[in-house]
Amino acid sequence: ERNGIDFAVADLSEADFGRREIRLAEHEMPGLMALRREYAEAKPLHGARVSGSLHMTVQTAVLIETLVELGAEVRWASCNIFSTQDHAAAAVVVGPHGTPENPQGIACFAWKGETLEEYWWCMEQMLAWRDSDTRGPNMILDDGGDATMLVHKGVEFEKAGVVPSATDDDPAEYQVVLATLRRSLEEDPQHWTKVASGIRGVTEETTTGVHRLYEFFNEDKLLFPAINVNDSVTKSKFDNKYGCRHSLVDGINRAVDVLISGKKAVICGFGDVGKGSAESLRGQGARVTVTEADPICALQALMEGYDVDTLDNVIESADIVITTTGNKDIVTLDHMRRMKHQAILGNIGHFDNEIQMEKLEKSGEAQRLNVKPQVDEWRFSDGHSVIILSEGRLLNLGNATGHPSFVMSNSFSNQTIAQIELFTKNDEYPLGVYRLPKHLDEKVAKVHVEALGGELTKLTKDQAEYIGVDVEGPYKPDHYRY
Ligand code: NAI
Repeated sequence: ERNGIDFAVADLSEADFGRREIRLAEHEMPGLMALRREYAEAKPLHGARVSGSLHMTVQTAVLIETLVELGAEVRWASCNIFSTQDHAAAAVVVGPHGTPENPQGIACFAWKGETLEEYWWCMEQMLAWRDSDTRGPNMILDDGGDATMLVHKGVEFEKAGVVPSATDDDPAEYQVVLATLRRSLEEDPQHWTKVASGIRGVTEETTTGVHRLYEFFNEDKLLFPAINVNDSVTKSKFDNKYGCRHSLVDGINRAVDVLISGKKAVICGFGDVGKGSAESLRGQGARVTVTEADPICALQALMEGYDVDTLDNVIESADIVITTTGNKDIVTLDHMRRMKHQAILGNIGHFDNEIQMEKLEKSGEAQRLNVKPQVDEWRFSDGHSVIILSEGRLLNLGNATGHPSFVMSNSFSNQTIAQIELFTKNDEYPLGVYRLPKHLDEKVAKVHVEALGGELTKLTKDQAEYIGVDVEGPYKPDHYRY
């Protein structure tokens, strides 16, 4: 703690460097800067206490400072152990007007290379406001749903009157979650009910977190309303696709710098992330095969000119294998046994269970040789080795710096608008999972079209009537798929 701000970051002296990159990013994030201008007077987030769990990057720093400019108090943690950019974390603690000796920013708990125990400790700190009995968070901003899950699980254990305890069969990370919950409940048996009761809602960034929210809702377990930011068109059809098109090769290049041209690559999953990822590797001249379970996405891949096959059929010849499914057990230990010597294996989906990392570690079949941070060679006893990036976690954020500012400006404009909606119009959102209305999606797009110098065609009244829309939009019905 310094100057009344509690924090845990790698090195506050990196704040200057962080600030220089934040300044460059601000120019590339016109959506967020437009929202700052629009709400400069109104400060709609005045009174909001936002607990945020989202990759602590330079772009996220611009999001955080936008929330602050709109009136919010903010506490932050990263949603991945490898994704923090330490200079960005330092800069948000110091703030635009502070110094490392006199920080004036926000409480932030994040550094690159956390252990799982540290990760969940950071999550707890991010949710634990000072005098939190009376002033817990009233909003959550989540990416992947870990913060939301912690609160929900805590309440579930409290209601059931059961002490959280793990069995050996539980995945390693879940054991840490249970230990975290046990500790907090020993201190205060009603801790999580109190936290949950103050929360007006959550806005969720990504596919995997949205999936978890609908699950809570369908099981009647959802504790507060949620806005699904991911399914704004200007989020998933841009960030997931064009973001990954940029940051997948960036991650691979920074990790191993192999020539991608001519190599055989496999992209598992052809949803939004898979589409961007496949294009990313094809753009470098790789020969790309796609695996899919959904015939519609498989057909899309074929129409784009990719081969579609099963991983079992192609694993022996693949040079690069990337998972993008948001599902588990996509690349199994058996696949790794069969891979080529020095084939590259990575994941760009939200969680590391797309690749059977835990099984690989526990099997003792392969020896881990660390090449450099977030790059490991796993050498099997027959002599072949597989190069695994970021221990199977999101490689674009672990090995590189995630998506660039301009695309994140779209995503984070939706986040900011969603926070304003849920905080200021809470009565209009009974328990449920919602998407933002289309006119707000179009508003986010418009700012970015203008920033790129595009000029929109204005419909005449007559034309608008002919196709059944308003001259000012929305231009499509809700069922339109883009
Ligand atoms: P999506 O639902 O559009 O696509 C996933 C696809 O994987 C689906 O088409 C599904 O049929 C397919 N799939 C599921 N199981 C499969 C299997 N066993 N084999 C082959 N294909 C399978 O989801 P989206 O938006 O593409 O997101 C995917 C993951 O990436 C999520 O975990 C999401 O949270 C994450 N994500 C990561 C980002 C990053 O920067 N690294 C950015 C945005 C999302």
